[in-house]
Amino acid sequence: MTQIRIRERHSRWVRWSHWLNVPLLMIMIWSGLLVYWANPQYIPFPQWLAKPLRMDYRLAEGMGWHFAVMWPFALNGFIYGLYLAFSGEWKEVVPNRSSAREAVQVVAHDLHLRRELPAQSGKLNGAQRFAYSGALLLGFFAVVTGVAILKPVQGSWLTELLGGYAWARFEHFVCMCGLVVFTFVHLAQVARAGWKNLRTMIAGYEVVETETDSRET
Ligand code: HEM
Repeated sequence: MTQIRIRERHSRWVRWSHWLNVPLLMIMIWSGLLVYWANPQYIPFPQWLAKPLRMDYRLAEGMGWHFAVMWPFALNGFIYGLYLAFSGEWKEVVPNRSSAREAVQVVAHDLHLRRELPAQSGKLNGAQRFAYSGALLLGFFAVVTGVAILKPVQGSWLTELLGGYAWARFEHFVCMCGLVVFTFVHLAQVARAGWKNLRTMIAGYEVVETETDSRET
């Protein structure tokens, strides 16, 4: 007999901070690119690309958005971090002893090199644990390196710790690139996992089907 149960997968805190993070991160990346592109000395991408994307000479606009949205972006990440720490859910997200092996097996499965998915220890598989913890670290360092280049005089100790102003700027850019890569891979995985998985991040619940021996009931 098939038994169907509904089980909570993502709490309200996780879902709200996750979905708020999507527009906040997009605005931070877009406005950050406006700032980078405004100074020819710092061009991360060719100038010919800036024109068709209409991203040239918009420094004030970029800074305005970046410095306004950095507060809710950082606060949202902070609240999510506090939630993970105090609910004990960090144990489900941070890689554990079997995560490295599990992650290799999940990637092998995704590349069609292995037939079965490995047995999963907890809510997230090893590959997800590494990817999500990595994204959280990137978000954290994006804020830290951002503070270092926003306040290089008042926070000179931090800027020095990160290797000086030029390095902190570069590290800030690298964090952004990492978050972009994560988002693309994440979206591909979400598309692959299908609607049932996406629904868990919207509604919070997952449907669990278990086979029971009818003689037991
Ligand atoms: C429209 C864009 C996005 C969609 C559709 C999406 C979808 C999802 C879904 C369905 C899950 C649940 C996976 C599971 O339970 O197996 C998830 C988890 C997660 N996503 Fe996204 N996501 C998006 C953007 C992002 C972005 C931009 C970030 C961060 C840079 C992010 C970070 C995370 C993290 C950290 C988790 C794990 C949350 C936890 O379990 O505590 N997502 N996402």
